[in-house]
Order: sequence, then C-alpha cells, then structure tokens
Amino acid sequence: MSDAPVLLSRDGAVALLTVNRPDKLNALNREVLEHLYRAFTELRAATDVRCAIVTGAGDKAFVAGADIASMRTLTTAEAKAFADLGHRVGDLIESLPFPVLAAVNGFALGGGCELAMACDLVYASDKAKFGQPEVNLGVIPGFGGTQRLSRRVGVGKARELVYTGDIIDAAEAHRIGLCEAVVPAAELQAHVRKVADKIAKKGPLAIAQAKVVMRRGDPSLPAANELEAQAFAMLFGTADQQEGMAAFLDKRPASFKGA
Ligand code: COA
Repeated sequence: MSDAPVLLSRDGAVALLTVNRPDKLNALNREVLEHLYRAFTELRAATDVRCAIVTGAGDKAFVAGADIASMRTLTTAEAKAFADLGHRVGDLIESLPFPVLAAVNGFALGGGCELAMACDLVYASDKAKFGQPEVNLGVIPGFGGTQRLSRRVGVGKARELVYTGDIIDAAEAHRIGLCEAVVPAAELQAHVRKVADKIAKKGPLAIAQAKVVMRRGDPSLPAANELEAQAFAMLFGTADQQEGMAAFLDKRPASFKGA
C-alpha cells in the first residue's frame, strides 16, 4: 500500500478517500489535512463523481483526532491557522455538489469526529467509538465540533460530550443521532458502498440542490465556526494546554491549574 497520507481511488461514480496514517491512528496533522483538501478539490473538479466515501486505514481508527504531537508547541497564531485549515476541509466537504459518506471503522475522536460530522452521512462499524475529548488536553474542539455536534445530537448532549470528553460506543452514537447506522465491522465498507451506489443513481442535479439547500438552511454555521477557531487558538500557550498535551504524550493523567 502507498504511504501517501491520503489515498484516493475511484470506482465508477464513487470516490474513496482513505486517511492513511495507521501507526498514529490516522491523526490529522497539517500534511494530512492538506492532502485531504487537495483530494476533495480534485474530486470537485471531476464532473463524473456522484458520491464519495471517507474512511481510515487499518482496523483500529477512522481518525483518532488532530495530531497532538504536532499541536503541542503551536503558538496562538499557529493554532488559529491549524483550526482554519481543519475548517476549510470541513467547509469544502459541505460545499461539494455530491454527498460524502463517512465509513467510521474505529476511533472517531476529536478531529476525527469532526471530519465525520462534516460529511453528509455517517455510518459506523460496531467497533467504532466517538467523542470530543479535547478538554482532556486543555483545549476545545477546533474543526467545527462545537457547532456540528449540537446540530446533529442536540445542544444538551453536545455540551455533555464536549464538557466531559466522554468517549461513546457506536450503539450510543446511533441512539443519539451521531451516526445513521451501525453495522458489523466486516460489513461496513460494503454497506457504505451500497448507500453510495444508490445515491449515485439519482439525479445528480437534484442531489446537489438538496445538499445546497440543506446546508444554506443553516446560515449561522460559518460565523460560529470562526468563533470556535478563535477560542481554540486562544487556549494555545496556556499552561493547561501544554500540560494536557504533554500528559497525553507522556501517557499520564493531566493535572490542570486553570492557567
Ligand atoms: N495525535 C497524535 N498521536 C496519536 C493520536 C493523536 N490524536 N491518537 C493516537 N496517537 C498515537 C499514540 O501517541 C500512539 O503513538 P506511539 O505508538 O508512537 O506511542 C499511537 O497513535 C497508538 O495510540 P495509543 O494511544 O497507543 O493506542 P491505544 O489503543 O492505547 O489508545 C486512543 C487509543 C484513541 C484511546 C488513544 O490513542 C487516544 O486517546 N488518542 C487521543 C484521542 C484524542 O484526544 N483526540 C483528540 C485530539 S484533539
């Protein structure tokens, strides 16, 4: 298998993107995000794509979050640029004229949960786990999680997940509306492919308009996402952010001081 950070393949009208960093549970660093952006831009330029699927390489993770090692030393300005890049990927997915389906094959945490939620439909393997555990690191979701989670599961449940950092299993994610269906791990890719094939046979102009209308019906999202990116960036350089990320990398619990 290629060692490119994002693998892009086509089968007829359906495109498959695989985040390919399995040794780091497909964590999103700048390079992976840039490759994702480039891959989706390439698909936007193709006139014959009717549906895309995003998944993670390996059997453990969809995407276990933004890359903590590379975030650890970011300044506020660098963190803002990183959040902006994550948002650009999510916005691009939402602006494509065809649906994007997330095939969540394992951990979808932090930026992974955010990537899945930027997709139109989310399908989970029974081994998948979801969560926004950023508060364990002294920061908050920075790629749209504070906004898209409440739009999917309601504001109370979203607050609970963001404030506690709890990680939930696929059945609970389905119960609260975070994913559309849960299927046995071995059947996930075939199931998502079946949905993609079904969508690909519909009128592409109608699908594109359905997507645009359902997205523009929520005009507050871009401003709310900008607010989130600023708050995310502001937390960088605090002692708590440095402690939270150092503790993760040192494999020990964090001790926060509120500073
Ligand atoms: N960023 C960078 N590296 C990550 C990562 C992330 N978000 N998630 C996992 N990794 C790395 C680990 O550091 C480890 O690297 P190493 O082998 O060089 O030590 C490797 O991926 C495997 O992860 P590990 O933690 O050993 O696997 P696990 O099965 O014990 O735990 C998780 C799996 C998902 C529970 C755990 O990796 C985790 O909590 N990840 C971070 C989740 C998170 O906070 N995401 C939000 C980030 S904003």
